[in-house]
Amino acid sequence: MIDSATILARTGGRELRRIVYSPEEIHARVQEMGEEIAAYYPEGEDVLLVGLLKGSFIFVGDLVREIPRPVQVDFLVAASYGSGTTTSGEVNLLYDPEAELKDRHVVLVEDIVDSGTTINRLIPILRERGPKSLEMCALLHKHLAPHLELEPRWVGFDAPHEFLIGYGLDHSEDFRNLPFIASL
Ligand code: IMP
Ligand code: MG
Repeated sequence: MIDSATILARTGGRELRRIVYSPEEIHARVQEMGEEIAAYYPEGEDVLLVGLLKGSFIFVGDLVREIPRPVQVDFLVAASYGSGTTTSGEVNLLYDPEAELKDRHVVLVEDIVDSGTTINRLIPILRERGPKSLEMCALLHKHLAPHLELEPRWVGFDAPHEFLIGYGLDHSEDFRNLPFIASL
């Protein structure tokens, strides 16, 4: 268990509502997901994990170390949450993966699927690049989106409908460094 002094030191004195997933729970689930991903792809085929920044940075770092097969890693940065873009099908790629997606098994790694807006804009762009396959791995899934261009094949946790922070997830850029996931 994490004592409240430790938590308050991390949050700068801000009280959290509750810890939703402990570091141990996260670790155990990430380990399972790593095994599941490895088992899914035929031996000898190229697998590229593409993490969606910034929220997935810790998840990707932990996940790749739990995948017992060769994988490559890249990232992309899309327009951030609340950017106010409403034009459907449009997404700003602020950083585009350097890695070629064509004819490779691509796994998009997301921190959390909430309204699905980000995913619904991103998936068509990635599909256009002709990957051999395209799957998604999300640490958290709120199951709120009425339609998703691609349902994540791997989900860490079916998340409660609360605003979650920690383990890479932020609130106005704060709290990414919490080793657990909490609600504000
Ligand atoms: P969506 O487009 O609504 O599915 O949300 C996508 C992005 O919004 C995620 O990748 C997160 O960066 C952010 N987001 C959504 N819900 C939360 C939350 O509960 N906590 C922190 N960030 C969130
Ligand atoms: Mg965010």
